[in-house]
Amino acid sequence: MEYTTIESLEALRNAADAEFAAIASEQDAEGFRLKYLGKKGILRDLVKSLGSMSPEERKTFGAAANSLRQGVEERFAAAPWRGNASAEEDLGFDPTLPGYPFPAGSLHPLSKIRNQIVEIFAGMGFSVAYGPDAESDYYNFQALNMPPLHPARDMQDTFYIGQNAVLRTHTSPVQIRVMEAQKPPIRAIMPGRVYRNEEISARSYCMFHQVEGLYVDENVSFSDLKGTLLAFSRQFFDENTKIKIRPSFFPFTEPSVEVDVECFLCKGNGCSICKQSGWLEILGAGMVHPNVFRACGVDPEKYTGFAFGMGIERSALLKYGIDDIRLFYENDVRFLRQF
Ligand code: DAH
Repeated sequence: MEYTTIESLEALRNAADAEFAAIASEQDAEGFRLKYLGKKGILRDLVKSLGSMSPEERKTFGAAANSLRQGVEERFAAAPWRGNASAEEDLGFDPTLPGYPFPAGSLHPLSKIRNQIVEIFAGMGFSVAYGPDAESDYYNFQALNMPPLHPARDMQDTFYIGQNAVLRTHTSPVQIRVMEAQKPPIRAIMPGRVYRNEEISARSYCMFHQVEGLYVDENVSFSDLKGTLLAFSRQFFDENTKIKIRPSFFPFTEPSVEVDVECFLCKGNGCSICKQSGWLEILGAGMVHPNVFRACGVDPEKYTGFAFGMGIERSALLKYGIDDIRLFYENDVRFLRQF
């Protein structure tokens, strides 16, 4: 067909529009391109018609032909199937669909156990206190009635980080800091990391966590300690849990005890976890030694108090039935996701 008039260009535009709208595949698109926009395409061939026209006609026809070609070129270049989709045209993107799930983290099992312990004591009126991981020899040992060369220092294999500085071997030094800072009555619970130079195995690690407790007031007695620990055990383990208190030794308490809870797995009948004894050791405790009070400026004639310290890992291992303590520190998400 010959295109020489403005009307014929109009018909051409309609034909091109209809074909453009019908494009349904890459092949269609390529066919369209060759037919209209290729080197020998209809829209490029239009210039040939100009030769037979008067200058007047040439002007109007040429302008119309140009704008027609440009319009088709632009639409073709911007077509969605060329990856140029505008938001409304692109059916591959629906802004009303829900987004991809964003995986939320969760609390570390040790944090969960610590929070449970802290909450139970908070319910009994204890406030929370913290101390530094790197301690002076004074707070970690001396103020706790362990002078230099005291044999009890051997109970804890210590990381020395300086002449007088250690990584704390227990949370007991926080007791000293609390008593220095506050006047009795004091009821404080002190969670934190502790460090011991122990061989790493399934049962022990060079770093672990403890929760320390301290209650100082007039007339605090050993039965207050028993009642508090029993109330804790019944909330933390099982409402019928029994506890057993055995004599022990710690330099910072007198008398000193160790506390066992009835094995909550076998209910005291004996199993592999409690080594057939029916009991699990959970903490050390005792009545605060007068020398410790003196070191903190608390009058031992006026005040008495009890203290205790328990490991968090041990409770977490037992509660979750985990058999290797190292799993807590490896941060393997396959392990952590289970809590
Ligand atoms: N600090 C002791 C330890 O790490 C545990 C302990 C025992 C803490 C008796 C106390 C206590 O507060 O009274 O082995």
